[in-house]
Amino acid sequence: MAIIISIVNQKGGVAKTTTAINLSAALGAMGKKVLLVDLDPQGNATSGYGFGKEAKRNLEYTTYDVIMGEARPAQAIVETKFKNVSIMPATANLAEAEVRLLQFENKTLCLKKALLQIKNDYDIIIIDCLPSLGVLCLNGLSACDRFIVPMQCEPYSLEGVSELLLTVKRVQKTSNRNLQLMGIVFTMIDKRLMINRDVMNMIKSSFSEDTVFKTEIPRNVRISEAPSHGEPIMYYEPNSKGADAYKLLAKEVAKKCKAFEEML
Ligand SMILES: Nc1ncnc2c1ncn2[C@@H]1O[C@H](COP(=O)(O)OP(=O)(O)O)[C@@H](O)[C@H]1O
Ligand SMILES: [Mg+2]
Repeated sequence: MAIIISIVNQKGGVAKTTTAINLSAALGAMGKKVLLVDLDPQGNATSGYGFGKEAKRNLEYTTYDVIMGEARPAQAIVETKFKNVSIMPATANLAEAEVRLLQFENKTLCLKKALLQIKNDYDIIIIDCLPSLGVLCLNGLSACDRFIVPMQCEPYSLEGVSELLLTVKRVQKTSNRNLQLMGIVFTMIDKRLMINRDVMNMIKSSFSEDTVFKTEIPRNVRISEAPSHGEPIMYYEPNSKGADAYKLLAKEVAKKCKAFEEML
């Protein structure tokens, strides 16, 4: 049975999607059967895996249809060109779900219910959440076992994470008792910047050692180029610092997944 991991941070541009794409690719390459769920109307994870405008138009079903209960997950999931990675794609219409869900009785549990149908078909399911703490994101947090928080080390990063953790507490109380933080991952790190160092140290001192990933993702121009070529970094530029970093992060995540399985 798959472990389900949400990538969350209500702040945009902190590398949630970049992490979702490259972590899923690296775990797939390690031999894990991975499903990436695109839970953002921007559909950047979908395009980052090579599904451009044209391909998106031709999709019969997407995350939207699955969340609304109008398609089964298996009908929406498509294989990617990359080893062991399938994707539940998203397009702009997912934004409508944010509105339509509000009329549903169990509005935060729609994704969880859907993923239960396919949980046995994968080793790891990764959910790329949108930058908000609205009802769609609550679906992501309610559906997962663990969550990963990508963070840029900037002055206000810690405040954002505190707000996120309050939301998580509410989700734990209402819809997902076993929800736990898998780890915070520092992204777009430039070691030359003192501010990065300072914020990093502050965050490290506010969390226990095992909730901050040892791997730091460096700022790397190759990482930002890869999505427009529709490829994860480890395929686009296998010998880059970015590819190395995401492979190391995948190893850490795999280890935590193993610990999770053993706990069950
Ligand atoms: N390590 C990195 N080095 C350079 N650019 C990065 C890195 N990680 C992400 N980016 C770029 O930063 C921008 C925001 O990343 P993205 O993953 O879309 O964030 P989010 O999903 O949190 O909104 C994108 O243009 C992406 O290519
Ligand atoms: Mg994103």
